[in-house]
Amino acid sequence: MTIWNLGSINVDHVYQVPEFVAPGETLTAKAYAWGLGGKGLNQTVAALRSDGKVHHMGAIGRGDTVTRQALVEMGIKGAWEADAATGHAMIQVNAAGENCIVLAPGANRALLEAEIERALEGAQAGDWLLLQNETSSGAFTVRLAKEKGLKVCYAAAPFEASSVAELMGQIDLLSVNEVELAQLEAAMSISGVARLVTLGSRGAYYEDAQGARTEVEAFSVTPVDTTGAGDTFLGAFLAKLDAGQSIEKCLTWASAAGAMQVTRPGAATVIPTASEIEDFLKEQAT
Ligand code: RIB
Repeated sequence: MTIWNLGSINVDHVYQVPEFVAPGETLTAKAYAWGLGGKGLNQTVAALRSDGKVHHMGAIGRGDTVTRQALVEMGIKGAWEADAATGHAMIQVNAAGENCIVLAPGANRALLEAEIERALEGAQAGDWLLLQNETSSGAFTVRLAKEKGLKVCYAAAPFEASSVAELMGQIDLLSVNEVELAQLEAAMSISGVARLVTLGSRGAYYEDAQGARTEVEAFSVTPVDTTGAGDTFLGAFLAKLDAGQSIEKCLTWASAAGAMQVTRPGAATVIPTASEIEDFLKEQAT
């Protein structure tokens, strides 16, 4: 089947800092790099590199040939052009590999519903729609996808209670980290919704709609940059789920992908491939 990802595309400006900048402070970065990111794009790339079939639905700024070329080099063709600048993120990464992120959504929030409708003409019942909170037209796309018999996987990040409330009742799989889960449960009941919850260095779990839980421990690695680890986990998980693998296998595979991602600086460009994940799992088993 196919994963249709209504997903953000960002240019990530990444600043290595000794510690996060404080209010009123000016801080000189130890290093700077830019690369492609965006929660949506990271998930698409992770799913593709885990052998998933993915159709990315997202936009960049009109005439932004630099980003388009970088996307094509990563195997993402057909990004739409919107009347806004390409989305970007300013990311500080501290000495512990933690990050804090400021987003300028730009083209991600200027998607045209007609383009989404045209893209989804190719979708079939049983496919997945994947979405996050970094684009516009989420509710519209979920409605359309449901009419066509797609399953909906929603990553509630960046967290916005109102967006989750709008989609609740139409979600087949909710993907959150433990902080987002706590925020969500404080705002509304999510009982009866299957969920994939990441717990950082404590692992992750999948809980089905009846409350049966499958857990996985995290692999032990030394993080240098946690940016995109959750996106990598979800994309890798969904690719394997869509391929019919057991929940346990999907969790182990996704956990390996996420663990590898935190050992690498950057987001979309450094997401591990299927053969790298296989090698990692073999090493871990010895
Ligand atoms: O989840 C990490 C991503 O969040 C970054 O790549 C950045 O672009 C923001 O969308």
